[in-house]
Amino acid sequence: MKIGIIGSGQIGGNLGKHWAKAGHQVLFSSRHPKELINLAENAGNNARAVSVAEAFEAKADVYLLAVPFKAIDDLAEIYAGEYEDKVIIDATNPYPERDGNVAQEVRDANYNSTEYTAVKFNTAKTVKAFNTIPAQQLQNRAFENTHKLAIPFAAQDELSKTVGLELIEGIGFDACYIGDLRETNIMDPEHEIFGKSLEKNELERLIASARAY
Ligand SMILES: NC(=O)c1ccc[n+]([C@@H]2O[C@H](COP(=O)([O-])OP(=O)(O)OC[C@H]3O[C@@H](n4cnc5c(N)ncnc54)[C@H](OP(=O)(O)O)[C@@H]3O)[C@@H](O)[C@H]2O)c1
Repeated sequence: MKIGIIGSGQIGGNLGKHWAKAGHQVLFSSRHPKELINLAENAGNNARAVSVAEAFEAKADVYLLAVPFKAIDDLAEIYAGEYEDKVIIDATNPYPERDGNVAQEVRDANYNSTEYTAVKFNTAKTVKAFNTIPAQQLQNRAFENTHKLAIPFAAQDELSKTVGLELIEGIGFDACYIGDLRETNIMDPEHEIFGKSLEKNELERLIASARAY
């Protein structure tokens, strides 16, 4: 797949490296693409550093959003035009202290942050994934053969579910399907499975117990 990484820091940088290693074509982007040249070189021949505009112009199959949550509105305003047929993976989390009012509003709302992102990007193929795993674990625990970490994910439709699963399992994690985006509150900061680094059976137990209440 061709994957546009929007925000290539701790989360986007590590995921892009893993996906390039797994054979995908990866476009790393940020507001300062020259600063991503070393990252792209380290990721190998499947990766390039580009501007955010170039990443969107490249018509990737999938876009990963790995920016501070406050960037979602601006990115969506400029680039969302044609995105209803694209899979978007949202790894962002809203932190009011970092992201300001928009993050507080989403935290207080009766929808969650990825539902917000899906509406802003006008896509019916949004995946919520990789927002719960600490960056260090994402960096160090990919491509394991045993004792794989489980990555919880949610998806809006069959295509986004299939793509999400493939992009999680293709880099050596176990995918754990949560449901559609409405069911992802347990994945959000300060909720039951946020920040947890667990194997799949342990994660499933935790999800079941969270849902029992
Ligand atoms: N770190 C974690 O452990 C962790 C875990 C799970 C989820 N998350 C979430 O994932 C997201 C990314 O976190 P991170 O730790 O990877 O952050 P990070 O290391 O600070 O990286 C953020 C990236 O986004 C780029 N960026 C910032 N504003 C942008 C904009 N308006 N347009 C395009 N690119 C922009 C930054 O580059 P420029 O400033 O050069 O543009 C940088 O490449 C956040 O929402 C975070 O809450 C983080």
